[in-house]
Formats: sequence, C-alpha cells, structure tokens
Amino acid sequence: MAVQAENLTPTIGSQVFCRPNDLLDPVVGGQLRQLLVERGVLVFRALHLEDEQQVQLAGMMGKLRPEGQKGIFKVTLDNEVNAQAEYLKGSFLWHMDGTHDDVPVFASLLTGRKLSQVGGQTGFANSYAAYEALPRDMKVRLEGLRVVHSFEVSMMRADVGRTDANVAYWRSIPEKTHSLVWTHQCGRKSLVIGCHASHVVGMNREESDALLAELLEWVTQPQFTYWHEWTPGDLLIWDNTGVLHRAEPYPFDSGRVMHRTTLLGEEAFA
Ligand SMILES: [Fe+2]
Repeated sequence: MAVQAENLTPTIGSQVFCRPNDLLDPVVGGQLRQLLVERGVLVFRALHLEDEQQVQLAGMMGKLRPEGQKGIFKVTLDNEVNAQAEYLKGSFLWHMDGTHDDVPVFASLLTGRKLSQVGGQTGFANSYAAYEALPRDMKVRLEGLRVVHSFEVSMMRADVGRTDANVAYWRSIPEKTHSLVWTHQCGRKSLVIGCHASHVVGMNREESDALLAELLEWVTQPQFTYWHEWTPGDLLIWDNTGVLHRAEPYPFDSGRVMHRTTLLGEEAFA
C-alpha cells in the first residue's frame, strides 16, 4: 500500500489518510519514516490508535525509547498522573527535546486522548527550511558558532517555581554545548535553538541574546510553522532533529492527556 498524503503548508507538515490497520505494515512504516524526514510533521486526523498500535507503529519507524508504561508516556499537567508536571510548563516555549543529551531523540508520536477546552494547540517550526532561507551573510556569520544549552535556563524562562529542590534538580542535569548549525549526516542543515539555548560561546551577553532571539523569531515565522488544532484521537509524529515545537498554554486542571511514544536518536549533534 502506498501512503496517501497531502501537504498542509508548503514548508512543513503532511496529512496522512489511512485507517489504523493500514499502518501496521512494515512497508508503510518505512514510507512514513521517509515522509516524516521530508516534511517534518505527519498528521493523522481522528485515527484513535490503541496504545499497543501506537507502540507497534513506532517500532516500525525507529527504535523505541523505554518510558512510561510499555512505551506510552502520559503528557499531562495533572500532578496525580505526572509527578513532574510542573516542568511541562517548559513545553509552552519553543524547544527541541534532548538538547541535554549528545544524541537527541529522533521523533515523537503523540495521540490526543483528552483535550483542553482552551489552549493546548501544538506548534511546529521547520528549522531545516528556516536555515535554508537565511540570507547568505547570516549563514556566514553563524559558521562555527557554538551554543550552551541549559535545563535551568529553560525552566527559568518557563517561569517554573524556583524552589531549592527544583534548582537542585535542574542543576543536576549538566549543560551541553552544541554547534548552532547542525550539519546532519544527510547533508541538510538545521538550527539548534529554543528556550534551552542559554548563550553563544565567546560572544558578549547582549549580542548573544540578540542573535538567539533573532534566530528564534526567524525560525518560528508563519511560513515555516504549522499549528495543530487537536480533535480527539489525532496522531501527530514529528522529526525532533529538525523541527522545534511548543504547546499553547492550557490550564493545569483542563484534563488534557496526550499519549506519547518516543523514538531514540540515531545521530549526534554535529
Ligand atoms: Fe517537547
């Protein structure tokens, strides 16, 4: 079976048309992976995958990260379900997952189980396309620059409570330094930025803050972004290595629950 899909915007996102059983075929898994790398985000409307089906699909697209229960992690701000819910406030700001690792996660699959009445939309920004469209003099300026990424900085920007316990935890996650421009093994280039990008190595603070802010604004312009308005049962898959994402804020007591499966990274930042 060939995957039926259409572009959601010129630069990012494809909607895929299929039924759950169509997905559980290794050939389709391979086609979806290829489409994901090309388009950054895949959207399946009202697919209503069972957890086991989601984990099975993920396994055909890459290698599963062990997390949650049998590969399903529940994303929610409800403290009774997720003890670290407060940290999810960081997901309201543009970010990449895994900048505190050498090898960031490749992709995530997210099914909308319970939605918030207000907010909760998810935004995606194609950092491959945004880099490609940068003026040539900016590309030259960015060559060789390296950026320090800090979990503590991202939590402060997200306005997470600065308690002693929180600060101790944030600081237990070491800062990482990555090239600002990531040249992937396939030759494509993307920008490694987001709320976790603390500062450019060797640049004065003012200039560094201005450059990182300018780049984030550039990448998240409407022509490089797709915003998803959830309906129940939607499945979204995104390529974390070249796409920034964020959630529109929603109330802690909204009941919103998303079931996430994550694929391990396959390529180190470079
Ligand atoms: Fe995230």
